[in-house]
Amino acid sequence: TLTHVVLSGGIGSRLWPLSRKSQPKQYLELFDGQSLFEKVVARNENISNKIIVVGNIENYKMSNKIMSKMDKNFTHIVEAIPRNTAAAIAFAAFASEWDDVLLVTPSDHVIEGSTMYDTALKQAIVLANQNFLVTFGVKPTKAETGYGYIEFDNENVIAFHEKPNLETATSYLDKGNYFWNSGLFCFKSGAFLAELEKQEPEVYTAAKLAWEANKNGFLDYELSLRIPSISVDFAVMERSTNIKVVPTHFEWSDLGSFESVYDYLVLKGHPTDISGNIVIGTAIHTSFVGLKNCLLIHTDDALLILKKENSQEVKQVYQQLELLE
Ligand code: GDD
Ligand code: MG
Repeated sequence: TLTHVVLSGGIGSRLWPLSRKSQPKQYLELFDGQSLFEKVVARNENISNKIIVVGNIENYKMSNKIMSKMDKNFTHIVEAIPRNTAAAIAFAAFASEWDDVLLVTPSDHVIEGSTMYDTALKQAIVLANQNFLVTFGVKPTKAETGYGYIEFDNENVIAFHEKPNLETATSYLDKGNYFWNSGLFCFKSGAFLAELEKQEPEVYTAAKLAWEANKNGFLDYELSLRIPSISVDFAVMERSTNIKVVPTHFEWSDLGSFESVYDYLVLKGHPTDISGNIVIGTAIHTSFVGLKNCLLIHTDDALLILKKENSQEVKQVYQQLELLE
C-alpha cells in the first residue's frame, strides 16, 4: 500500500491576513479557482491507494468538503490540539501497517511539473522500500532561514540542518553541497516509528498512548497535551543516520511567507510597479512613494503593508492579535 499522508494542521500565521484560523492558506481558492489542498490530493491520486488527512477539527471539516466534491474517500485523524509534525506523522504511521509506504506531504505548497514530480516519487519509493527515510531536495536559490538544509555527498546525506541562522545558511550556499528540504517525506510506517522511538522516545510513547485512545480518528485532548511539541525535522531528520535525499527538478514553492508569495506571483506575471511593489486583494488605485519591494495586502477586514524582506515578522502581528482575541 502507498498511503498519501496530508499534513493539514498549520494555520499559516506568516500569511496573515490572507490566511486565518478559520481559513488556513491550503483551503484558499487562490489558484485557478482551486485550493492547494485540492491540488495536493490530485497530484498524488495516481500513485497512492489510500489517503490520510491529519489536522484539527476545522481542517477536517474543510477537507471533508473538498474530498466529497472530488468524490474521494479518506481516513481522517483529528487532532485535539496541534502537537507539531513529529506527532502528526506518528499518528498516521500508527494508523497504518508496518510495511505501508507513507508519502507525507504538506497541504500548502505549490508544485509544478508533473513528470519531474512523478520521477522523484518513483525514486523515493524504491529507497523507502529499502527502509530509508527519504527527503526531497530542492536546489537553494538564497540563504533562506525558514527551511531545513540537507548536506549531501552524491546520493548520501551527510547531515540535516533545520532552520539555520542567516550566517550559517549563507555558508551553506557558498559551499554548494546543500539542498533545501522541500518538506515532503517518504518512508515505511515502521521505519519511521522505529526511528522516532530511538530519537525521541517521549514523543513516540505519548503519541502512541494518545493514538491508542482515539475515538474514530478523534484524539483525546488530555493525552495529546502530554505529547512534546516538536517538528519531525528536529525530532528525527536532524538526528537520523538513515536518511536519503532525492534531488528534485520540479518547480517548488512553499508559499511559507509573503516573500515566497511575492516571488511566486511575480514569476507568474502579477503586475508590479517600477520599484517592485505589488498589491494583493484590491483593485483600488494604489501608489507607493519612496517604497521599494513592498506588498500591500487587502482583505475584507484587514490591511497589511510590509517590506518583502520583513516577511518572517508577520507571524508576530498574528501572535499579537491572537493575544487580543
Ligand atoms: N496535522 C498537523 N499537525 N499538521 C501540522 C502541524 C500539526 O501540529 N504543524 C504543522 N503542520 C503542517 C503544516 O500545515 C505544513 O503543511 C507542514 O505540516 C509543515 O509545517 P510548517 O510549520 O509549515 O513547517 P516549516 O515550513 O516551518 O518547515 C518545514 O517545511 C520546510 C519547507 O516548506 C520543514 O520540513 C523544513 O525543513 C522545510 O524546509
Ligand atoms: Mg511551511
